[in-house]
Amino acid sequence: MIPKVVLLPGDGIGVEVTEAAKRVLKYVTEKFNVEFELVEKLVGGASYDKFGTPLTDETLQACFDSDAVLLGAVGGYKWENLQHNLKPEAALLKLRKALGLFANLRPAKVYPQLIDSSSLKKEVVEGTDFVVFRELTGGIYFGEPRGYNKEKGWNTMVYTRFEIERIARLAFESAAKRKREIVSVDKANVLECSQLWREVVNDVSKDFPNVNLKHMYVDNAAMQIVRDPKQFDVILTSNLFGDILSDISGIITGSIGMLPSASLGSKYALYEPVHGSAPDIAGKDRANPIAAISSVAMMLEHSFEMNKPAELIYSAIKKVIADGYRTQDINNGDCKLVGTRVMTDKIIENIEKIYNEQALGVFTL
Ligand code: IPM
Ligand code: MN
Repeated sequence: MIPKVVLLPGDGIGVEVTEAAKRVLKYVTEKFNVEFELVEKLVGGASYDKFGTPLTDETLQACFDSDAVLLGAVGGYKWENLQHNLKPEAALLKLRKALGLFANLRPAKVYPQLIDSSSLKKEVVEGTDFVVFRELTGGIYFGEPRGYNKEKGWNTMVYTRFEIERIARLAFESAAKRKREIVSVDKANVLECSQLWREVVNDVSKDFPNVNLKHMYVDNAAMQIVRDPKQFDVILTSNLFGDILSDISGIITGSIGMLPSASLGSKYALYEPVHGSAPDIAGKDRANPIAAISSVAMMLEHSFEMNKPAELIYSAIKKVIADGYRTQDINNGDCKLVGTRVMTDKIIENIEKIYNEQALGVFTL
């Protein structure tokens, strides 16, 4: 069976970075002689403009028929005043829910050459390497009742034992393979919902005696991430807290334009950059494609067990950065400023170079 990948470029810079990701995906799959079927569909504001809805049944069905989905970004000023269920963001939330993507993995890792791009001190960020496990299909994002009128707006933060347990298990499994440290973030001093969260996480931890578990309140966690990010290995948290903490984590890597993410469920998977649609720089060839290209690497790893090609992509990105190429978001003065397209060209050139070097290595063995 030929693996099927649905591309959803979406809005703003989503279009440019998805094009970059597609080029890299095509390049590596051809290099490794594997066939992939790529299907492209509209989502978000682009879909609203054409069909009057941010997510058509056809796009959703294509995702149901897929082995993986690669998304760019959704949203923009143009659609800000639409009612909630017509906003571009509603498409993303509906996709996550319909595909059952309960686990959102957001790694925050420092590229040594980019340390100067971070607004934090070098000695604070150096060596940081953690991953946020954000619950993605529950919590206040989806809780009922919800609504608003002229006098009142309300949402419900609710979690079931089942929902907490399945994300906690994944986070513990990951921690067991990493530095065996997990910090579960909640607000158990105020919220009952967090009280259950803490109880369930404690229960799950009994199955992982080698993993060290700590609990942290979300306000403190936000502070600790910028104060001493190196203390973290795996952060486990709910939907809303994870949304906020993963943006903060973007500061550590120099730019949110570097951060990929994977949203996983028991059947489907979606990969997307953590950044948004950045309408202010859309269509100007200024967006950083690295988050989207790294998302391709995550996809190859998690959905297709193609670890070698994924490694190749990561190595090429590192090399391009080491060679001094920078998009404007990670521009730290003394470097070669390039646009989305040239950055992608450079990454592809380096994939080719590293691939050939490795092939040569095999011959001379
Ligand atoms: C994210 C985004 C989304 C979220 C929005 C666009 C709905 O901020 O993926 O982090 O809040 O989850
Ligand atoms: Mn967010």
